[in-house]
Amino acid sequence: MDIIRCENLSKIYQAGDNKIFALDDVTVSFEQGTFTAITGPSGSGKSTMLHLLSGLDAPSQGKVFYQDKSLYDYKDNQLSVLRRRRFGFVFQSYNLVKELTGMENILLPVMLDNRKVDEDHINRIVDMLGIGDRLTHLPGAMSGGQQQRISIARALANKPNILFADEPTGNLDGKSGREVLSLLRQASHELGITLILVTHDMNVAEQAERIVQIEDGKIIRDSGKVREEE
Ligand SMILES: Nc1ncnc2c1ncn2[C@@H]1O[C@H](COP(=O)(O)OP(=O)(O)OP(=O)(O)O)[C@@H](O)[C@H]1O
Ligand SMILES: [Mg+2]
Repeated sequence: MDIIRCENLSKIYQAGDNKIFALDDVTVSFEQGTFTAITGPSGSGKSTMLHLLSGLDAPSQGKVFYQDKSLYDYKDNQLSVLRRRRFGFVFQSYNLVKELTGMENILLPVMLDNRKVDEDHINRIVDMLGIGDRLTHLPGAMSGGQQQRISIARALANKPNILFADEPTGNLDGKSGREVLSLLRQASHELGITLILVTHDMNVAEQAERIVQIEDGKIIRDSGKVREEE
């Protein structure tokens, strides 16, 4: 089943007299529970595509459907709730609140949603991510890899259906980057989460089940939706 898809999606920026097609008439869909990498050179439109698919930004043209309902049929506050409950986000720069401990950062989205903490679920992801000994530390006292693992736990705290990650290993050295990537894969696999990951790095993209390549705002290659058995 497709969990998210877009139709004829475009984002056009006006730069003086020029139009920049950051995304140019893209139609693509993603199956529930799969891991897709979106790759392409700098400026090709990867982040733009992720921002539009996740409802962080609105397109110039086209539509995004989450479980067959257009994101633009939601009222603003409903869309915020959908994003908070169903989508998780991981960024290159971790975006942790530096005054809060690891655990406080992880629980922030649950608190913002006024929901009860599912302690079993939180313990499971803390174990999976190996961050049990960082929970009382402030982000400033953590390595980049540890901060990114906290930010992945935060993204998973609300049990999202889709995890959007934009260059999640971009600030990490090779070893921590590989660890973080393998944890994202594991989380997606074990929790049945659809992972859509943006990267310019082919070595990272090759870890995905599907690779969608974009250039100048267009999909130029798609390895396809059929999952290959390992
Ligand atoms: N707010 C904006 N105003 C004008 N142009 C923009 C804006 N945001 C992005 N662009 C342009 O849209 C194009 C796509 O940008 P985008 O950030 O999606 O690329 P990217 O593939 O994520 O690149 P990178 O790998 O460097 O992060 C680029 O040409 C960029 O300059
Ligand atoms: Mg980008």
